[in-house]
Amino acid sequence: MKIKKAIIPAAGYGTRFLPVTKAVPKELLPIVDKPMIQYIVEEAKLSGIELVILIVNHGKEAIEDHFDINYELEDTLRKKGSNGLLGLIEGLSDMIKIVSIRQKKALGLGHAVLQAKHLIGDEPFAVILGDDIIDAQRPCLQQMVEVYERYQKPIIAVQQVAREDISRYGIIKGTQADDRVYLLDDVVEKPSPETAPSDLAIIGRYILTPEIFDILENIPTGAGGEIQLTDGLKVLLKHNGMIGYRFEGERYDGGDKLGFLLANIAYAMKRPEIKDKLVDYLKGYTR
Ligand code: G1P
Repeated sequence: MKIKKAIIPAAGYGTRFLPVTKAVPKELLPIVDKPMIQYIVEEAKLSGIELVILIVNHGKEAIEDHFDINYELEDTLRKKGSNGLLGLIEGLSDMIKIVSIRQKKALGLGHAVLQAKHLIGDEPFAVILGDDIIDAQRPCLQQMVEVYERYQKPIIAVQQVAREDISRYGIIKGTQADDRVYLLDDVVEKPSPETAPSDLAIIGRYILTPEIFDILENIPTGAGGEIQLTDGLKVLLKHNGMIGYRFEGERYDGGDKLGFLLANIAYAMKRPEIKDKLVDYLKGYTR
């Protein structure tokens, strides 16, 4: 069955980016001049997704505005003949169908995903986490859709991480079945490096089957008193099997200050009008 729907959780407080996130949703922080969430929605679109389900909380209305028409601004730019600028915003409102659902209690990623149950129905779907920006020739989710078509099992994106970073991620246990493909036996949320089953971390792209909803409804709260998606995956993989897919591409942790700055530099380097001056500045930078 084709993957047509993607859930994008966007209901966090973004505390790691305070004070900016006091009034500005973290998802709208820019990488160069585009909000982080736009990269994610564009990836969804390029991967064949037709409906994006945003899980939001109070104060995230500006995300909805970003993907809506701003008639006044568009009209002003049109009258001024600023076609280049108009082109940057014009397509945003009809790029893809977007709906949003409020998560009324901050009970974790598993709980956030559960909020979309009634909109998913009986079909496989994607979950994309907005913090994980993946720069790839073939969009990461598209790569995963192809793997899903081959294996017809839930797929999670994985990446090798340094030992000192293991405790920040969900970590997989599995055996390699093919180039980039692992058959999973278990997943563990944020283990210590000593007890971790591998150094392959779950990155924020998932293709899941609807059985996950019943599982999430019935699992006890996990780490931090939250309903953890990874705890749900643990049960789902015992029922259906699950694939870990080591994607092609460069991933930036947009939820972390350094990762966010590196993403900005990497994407700025792709802009001919910025690149040379940025390189000169960095070369000349002395502490
Ligand atoms: C979440 C998941 C974790 C995953 C990570 C990827 O953690 O719970 O399994 O490895 O995203 O970014 P969070 O970053 O929300 O703490």
